[in-house]
Amino acid sequence: MTAKAAFWRFATYDQIGSTSDLCRTLAEAGEPEGFAVLARQQTKGRGSRGRSWDSQRGNLFLSLLLRPIGPAREAGLWALLAGVAIAEALEGFDGIQLKWPNDILLNGAKLGGVLIDAATNDSGGLAWVVIGIGLNLAHAPEGLGRATASLEGRITPDTLAPLILERISHWRRVRILEGFADMRAAWLQHALPKGTMMQIRIRRGVVSGTFEGIGEDGRLLLHTGERVQGFSTGEIWLPQDPEPSA
Ligand code: BTN
Repeated sequence: MTAKAAFWRFATYDQIGSTSDLCRTLAEAGEPEGFAVLARQQTKGRGSRGRSWDSQRGNLFLSLLLRPIGPAREAGLWALLAGVAIAEALEGFDGIQLKWPNDILLNGAKLGGVLIDAATNDSGGLAWVVIGIGLNLAHAPEGLGRATASLEGRITPDTLAPLILERISHWRRVRILEGFADMRAAWLQHALPKGTMMQIRIRRGVVSGTFEGIGEDGRLLLHTGERVQGFSTGEIWLPQDPEPSA
């Protein structure tokens, strides 16, 4: 284990089931915040919504444990914060954009994503948050029903992971001192432009509209004709993605 920055205790594995599963297990065993783990390969990588996450060697698989003070409803804001950190760490690459709630895009195609695991304490506050980050640095997985992209080996996980961790610790400090407002503004700067057409798939169907931003609570704001609607959960499809199945 090597310290990459004062805040982080950084571990690397050649192969692991899931970096986020390791962080969860450690969190439940009382590990203090600041643990971060990078794996070269995962055998049980998890994506959002219970999907598996293609975890081929060459891509980035990074998870980290935080113990923020705040209500459980703020868990999702940490996905937005991680997105800002990733976009900043990748600032030398053109075409990087954020798509609500947890996607990192390259020229409109999925380059990676953020998975949040969280637990609450007896008072309904966050006990821990595990931020899991997967980025297609070398290979773009196919067959996901999504347009996907990779950075084609132009940056390695070993180079990128410390840059992401540095930006996450920066935004964590901002969050402690000033709340989420600056992070939200930064997220919007890196996001798809307002007016982007999108569909959100929710439990009661598919809603089409144009992107209007995000609320202070991190909800997606979608202009759906006559009004702006807020969504706290759902999956987004862009026109270039394959049609969502019913
Ligand atoms: C998504 O579905 O977009 C989120 C994918 C998150 C994948 C990462 S890879 C590192 C960490 N460990 C996992 O098992 N999942 C996350």
